[in-house]
Amino acid sequence: VIPLSLQRRVESLIQDHYDRALLRSDKANAMLEGNSTSEDIKEVQPDANQGSLIDAHVMEKILYRKSFRMKNLQRTWQESPEGSKMLTFRKSLPAYREKERLLSAIAHNQVIVISGETGCGKTTQLPQYVLESEIESGRGAFCNIICTQPRRISAMSVAERVSTERGENIGESVGYKVRLEGMRGKDTHLLFCTSGILLRKLLGDRNLNGVTHVFVDEIHERGMNEDFLLIVLKDLLSRRKDLRLILMSATLNAELFSNYFGDAPTIHIPGFTYPVRTHFLEDILESTGYKLTSSNQLDDYGQDKLWKTQRQLMPRKRKNQITSLVEDALKNSSFECYGSRTRDSLANWNPDCIGFNLIEAVLCHICRKERPGAVLVFMTGWDDISCLRDQLKAHPLLGDPNRVSLLTCHGSMATSEQKLIFERPPPNVRKIVLATNMAEASITINDIVFVVDCGKAKETTYDALNNTPCLLPSWISKASARQRRGRAGRVQPGECYHLYPRCVYEAFNEYQLPELLRTPLNSLCLQIKSLQLDSIGKFLCAALQPPEPLAVQNAVDFLKMIGALDENENLTNLGKYLSMLPVDPKLGKMLIMGAVFRCLDPILTVVSGLSVRDPFLLPQDKKDLAGTAKSRFSAKDYSDHMALVRAYEGWKDAEREGSAYEYCWRNFLSAQTLQAIHTLRKQFGYILKDANLVDLDARTCNSLSHNQSLVRAIICSGLFPGIASVVHRESSMSFKTMDDGQVLLYANSVNAKYQTIPYPWLVFGEKVKMNTVFIRDSTGVSDSIVMLFGGALGKGEMVGHLKMLDGYIDLFMDPSLAECFVQLKEELDKLIQKKLEDPTVDIHKEGK
Ligand code: CDP
Ligand code: MG
Repeated sequence: VIPLSLQRRVESLIQDHYDRALLRSDKANAMLEGNSTSEDIKEVQPDANQGSLIDAHVMEKILYRKSFRMKNLQRTWQESPEGSKMLTFRKSLPAYREKERLLSAIAHNQVIVISGETGCGKTTQLPQYVLESEIESGRGAFCNIICTQPRRISAMSVAERVSTERGENIGESVGYKVRLEGMRGKDTHLLFCTSGILLRKLLGDRNLNGVTHVFVDEIHERGMNEDFLLIVLKDLLSRRKDLRLILMSATLNAELFSNYFGDAPTIHIPGFTYPVRTHFLEDILESTGYKLTSSNQLDDYGQDKLWKTQRQLMPRKRKNQITSLVEDALKNSSFECYGSRTRDSLANWNPDCIGFNLIEAVLCHICRKERPGAVLVFMTGWDDISCLRDQLKAHPLLGDPNRVSLLTCHGSMATSEQKLIFERPPPNVRKIVLATNMAEASITINDIVFVVDCGKAKETTYDALNNTPCLLPSWISKASARQRRGRAGRVQPGECYHLYPRCVYEAFNEYQLPELLRTPLNSLCLQIKSLQLDSIGKFLCAALQPPEPLAVQNAVDFLKMIGALDENENLTNLGKYLSMLPVDPKLGKMLIMGAVFRCLDPILTVVSGLSVRDPFLLPQDKKDLAGTAKSRFSAKDYSDHMALVRAYEGWKDAEREGSAYEYCWRNFLSAQTLQAIHTLRKQFGYILKDANLVDLDARTCNSLSHNQSLVRAIICSGLFPGIASVVHRESSMSFKTMDDGQVLLYANSVNAKYQTIPYPWLVFGEKVKMNTVFIRDSTGVSDSIVMLFGGALGKGEMVGHLKMLDGYIDLFMDPSLAECFVQLKEELDKLIQKKLEDPTVDIHKEGK
């Protein structure tokens, strides 16, 4: 018999021991996530001879205890009135009927492929079923489920939803992690993350230790990250026999994926949707009485017609094809049934334009004549959305907040805005959501009854031959159109308005081309290298649909050019740093150079601005004023990037004085975007600090920030080879890129306003092919900057530059001067190399 006091004491000792071990296990978790400090590591592995066996034993006990607690919590919630109400709802979803089949398939197969209509409960239910059944079997704390989403907002909104369904706050058993943001805690066992995050996790831990289930969602979209993930996971499955992989798709092309994974079993969830009545353009013209004229098509684009129309242009060939299709159809009997008015009107249909007036007319028709229900409008991108929103806000009915709640839904919206789109509007107010194609499958807005589909999506295509990404609004696929239509039939019978004639729909492709085949592979190749996978070419050959060898070669050449890979395609020191930064390699390089050269503040702003979006607004009706406001920030810098830096700094000052709102209003700046830039700047700062590239002292890393030429040079070092020569001929000015192509400046660039530019070069971030090639933001730089800061770090590249610049730079007519530059560049590069090899070296101290 043990005296009570002693018993208590033993208990408290055990408790104490558990608590300490629990703390350690949290730290161990943190280590697995890769965000531990050296202190943590010491604590988790005190030292070998204290016996890690005991720790493992204790750890297991802790996990069982935790599992027990999880089971209790789950049951308590499910038996509560709210919980059981939620359960009833969940049981009504089509996925529920397949629950047992799914769980048993997951238990017996390493890979399964699941397809089911959007809204049937794939994303919110399936990972949750696994979690619940693990918890119910008393092993909740042992499971670790990851579910990837193609977009950050869907990862966040789904995690929020699943937490609600489990009666918890987000960050308890369910969490999310997206680039530079996350909510998860020590009890998180189901994590929703973007596919990019899982790839990054794989970078730190190639075996995904501790992860038990991986769900890859929305695979039908064939995003680059998803295709990439599948290659890596396929390889991993042979090493981790216990890992379960579940692929989820909204369309029925499951065989493709099943074949890829050696005939993995497929399960289809039969869904239920209400019927959706389809209206094509001809029907819309008939029912709304709207008349398309060639002039109202053009008016849709406001003042800056030329630019806008160019923006909308699609490849000539495709356009002709569509136009002749419509002409044929008009000649043909298929339009016989419509009155001559419709026929005349349709003859004016311009496939290049998304008629804003037409959309307005359709929305008015819905608001006036149709039954209640929210409207979802599919647009091509943020700029279209904001232009349309401005137009609608000026409308007496659609702009009246008492009758219409006008919302937007796009990739970079703020969290507060996200919540609104899911909420029900007050009675008698109609909700209209203007969305990009992200509302197509990955997020579900429950009360949609009407869908308006412009038929296009902004899609990056990649022209490997010219090595130019093209950003064109192009026609969607039949699968997408079906998907968009499906959004209307979720709660009751719906209506879908396609703003193009039926014959055009018939000509759509069946599915969209996978992203891997239509984007530059720079980032991807860098990641392949840092994952230490096979040779890049060989690795990508294992893809579901491998990219062209030329596209791979271009990417490798690019990485060599910026100095991320050496001659033998091995990762350099710069490359290693770049793979740590969650941005495009060239922006990453700019950050690193900004840190090394101690002009961090302006560079942080430039890089954040380029990765968020342009904070300079261009309202339709005030373009001139907005343009003038923007050029006020440029002060003869000949630089959009510097204008951004000034605008940001002005905003910070105004904020301190409490006048940020007026400042943004006066200068046509988006406060929301500036805020996003501000947040991103901080995050980048932390990452650079973690990599030891910047000192803690803000003054040191900004001691050269006032040096304009240096800032220009750093911008050049990042954006190179995005460079165009400025050619002045008589009174006009033209721009030529390295591959000798003629390019134009975007209308809202500060450099587009000048007659002459006193710099021989413009460096730019993005070259976009429309009907001609445009460059977006640009900065003027001098010859010597290009010589010293363009290209890779190393002597070999210098010769390449000389060749490239041959004929442009008089300076190099003088061989001794050229030789001098070669030496200078070599010395400079050596210094940078030294810093990247050992970040503690102070290269500025050496008097250089
Ligand atoms: O992934 P899938 O498209 O199959 O559907 P889901 O996203 O799992 O959504 C299943 C159901 O949950 C939807 O039909 C909605 O009724 C509901 N849901 C919700 O109410 N709120 C959300 N934020 C997400 C889903
Ligand atoms: Mg889903």
